[in-house]
Amino acid sequence: MRSIVMCAGVCLGLANVLVADEPDIVIADFEGADYGDWTTTGTAFGPGPARGTLPNQMDVSGYEGQGLVNSYFKGDNATGTLTSPPLTIQRRYINFLLGGGRYPGETCINLLVDGQVVRTATGPNDRPGGTERLDWYTWDVQDLVGQQAVIQIVDQRQGGWGHINVDQLVQSNRKRQAEPQSRRLVMAQRYLHLPVRNGAAVVRMKVTVGNTIVDDFDIELAPGAPSFWAFLDMAQYQGQEAVIEVDRLPGDSQGLAQVRQDDAIPGAATLYQEKYRPQFHFSPCVGWNNDPNGLVFYKGEWHLYFQHNPYGWNWGNMHWGHAVSTDLVHWTQLPIAIYPHQFGDWAFSGGAVVDRDNTAGFKSGTEDVIVASYTSTGRGEVIAYSNDRGRTFADYEGNPVVKHQGRDPKIIWYEPGQHWVMAVYDEEGAGDQLQQRIAFYTSTDLKSWTLQSKLDRYFECPEIFELPVDGNSQNTRWVVYAADGAYQLGRFDGKTFTPDQPEKTRFNWGNCFYASQTYSNVPPEDGRRIQIAWGQIGHPDMPFNQQMNFPVELTLRTTEEGVRLCANPVREVSRLHGKSFALERIMLTDGANPLAGKRGELLHIQAVLEPGDAQQVVLDLRGAQIVYDAAAQTLSCRDKQAPLPAVDGCVQLEILVDRLSIEIFGNGGRIYMPMGMVLDVDNTSLGITAQGGTATIRSLTVHEMQSAWRR
Ligand code: FRU
Repeated sequence: MRSIVMCAGVCLGLANVLVADEPDIVIADFEGADYGDWTTTGTAFGPGPARGTLPNQMDVSGYEGQGLVNSYFKGDNATGTLTSPPLTIQRRYINFLLGGGRYPGETCINLLVDGQVVRTATGPNDRPGGTERLDWYTWDVQDLVGQQAVIQIVDQRQGGWGHINVDQLVQSNRKRQAEPQSRRLVMAQRYLHLPVRNGAAVVRMKVTVGNTIVDDFDIELAPGAPSFWAFLDMAQYQGQEAVIEVDRLPGDSQGLAQVRQDDAIPGAATLYQEKYRPQFHFSPCVGWNNDPNGLVFYKGEWHLYFQHNPYGWNWGNMHWGHAVSTDLVHWTQLPIAIYPHQFGDWAFSGGAVVDRDNTAGFKSGTEDVIVASYTSTGRGEVIAYSNDRGRTFADYEGNPVVKHQGRDPKIIWYEPGQHWVMAVYDEEGAGDQLQQRIAFYTSTDLKSWTLQSKLDRYFECPEIFELPVDGNSQNTRWVVYAADGAYQLGRFDGKTFTPDQPEKTRFNWGNCFYASQTYSNVPPEDGRRIQIAWGQIGHPDMPFNQQMNFPVELTLRTTEEGVRLCANPVREVSRLHGKSFALERIMLTDGANPLAGKRGELLHIQAVLEPGDAQQVVLDLRGAQIVYDAAAQTLSCRDKQAPLPAVDGCVQLEILVDRLSIEIFGNGGRIYMPMGMVLDVDNTSLGITAQGGTATIRSLTVHEMQSAWRR
């Protein structure tokens, strides 16, 4: 044994004869028009190196010069190989840039000696999304120095990420691949500030204090100047030593060195004053949001949890962010409420209820327990409970409570049966055979659940609730919908939903509505059904991205077409009213604009318009046009259009204008059209005109909205 160790030592010593300053040997840089001495089989590699991104491919980056190997030639379904001529290994390392699919043996680069694969590597991607960036990869080939080898690039995979990208194969005595690194610092201030550069290589960062993992996540760590700073709340760890580890950091990256402490969150001094910050819609201080989660009212607070990536501008690292409001318009963001269970086991969407009767037995103090239900991506449907008014949650030790293929559990209390109901997206099969539906489970203790029924043809983020028709509590319907908002009305007996009609009815006519949810535990004296949806709106060049749509009150109203779900801005919108002016009974003759000279950035507009014999009535709000077409009886904004028949010769419009959105409500909420768009900051002009005839403004009130962030 001893002699073998000795031998290894001697061998290493010999190999060290290779000196670091020997020049690099370029094996291939793929800058030529063809592959030269390299040989191809199949079609995936095309006639020669690609010049960057190929048709229908996400943006390829990270390669050097103009050309690279890109086996996306004619798409993901082409296969083939690309093989180098024999080469002699003369340096300790082979460095190369690598990207594409992460399928060992199928999308890979191999080093072969005597026909045997002695080294192999794949790209980083095996799921939708991901990145077409190439990164440095290094093989340590010290033991192979002097031997003949061939490099073979393989694409034998079809379908998503069925391709491989390679560039700049170089023999070298210097390693280019990123290495794990760590840093220790004693927490003297509350926050760790983390530099993020959009588009930088994703690294995995783990922050620990003693044996506790504070958080473990992916981050586009900025090697140099960041696009923005993210933060990690270390309030609980003051005075203790934190260890920050990253799994891979290129030698020249300043990403870890730049991490710093601060008592304020990044950008605190100018928070909410950013150019594209929504002024009366919720958006996260920093990072990404998608779905609203756990909407629950408790003791005067409207809780808004949300799908949150605290460490990036894009979707990822799903946590439950948290904000509260006492009036649905002013929001205060609180520390993250639910962290991922472990790396990659993200906290996806779900709901929250108040367990007033302590049916689950989680109560430990004087507060009623708030129980959150959500999808833990690695475990299934789980519950977590809070004894501190929704600030922090403990994971139920018996999790998961439901295991199936699906996600997004929303729980409600079914009063007549005195039990809980979970509506959860459930799927079976795949491809053409995929069945998508809502599964309904029941429970008396929130922990053990019994499957009762399934409702076909619904996708993620299901919701179910009961509403009076025309305000009559003796005449109710149950409403069911999923992420797109299209709904069915029907009966629900606590176990099975029976729709009144086979078809769904469209609810949202805009371009930025998804994954909405309604509040639970709203006090009976309030009695409203309040919905918040994810406002799918990109915020260019900002440290945050996406927002929530304005909270709406849902009602059921009888219309000519039957009972319909209507949405109106919650009445608390008036709390933000600033100056206002009103017009009444004004004739709109062809082209005249009674709003000429009026200006406003943030607006709440209420109008009753009589199209008369005009062809169109056009509201021009800061350059965005909302058009009522009288002949077609349609309302449109940008590329979206909704039917809106006049009622008694009039159409009624209510409109909210923020920095990146215009929400339009037609005829008392019968039509709901939330529109995301970047409004020109310098354009505050307003206009209303009639075309092709004379219309009448019965009434028009313009309220200037105050920023909700100005306290
Ligand atoms: C909807 C959704 C949910 C999922 C969550 C993940 O937007 O895909 O189905 O739980 O987002 O962030």
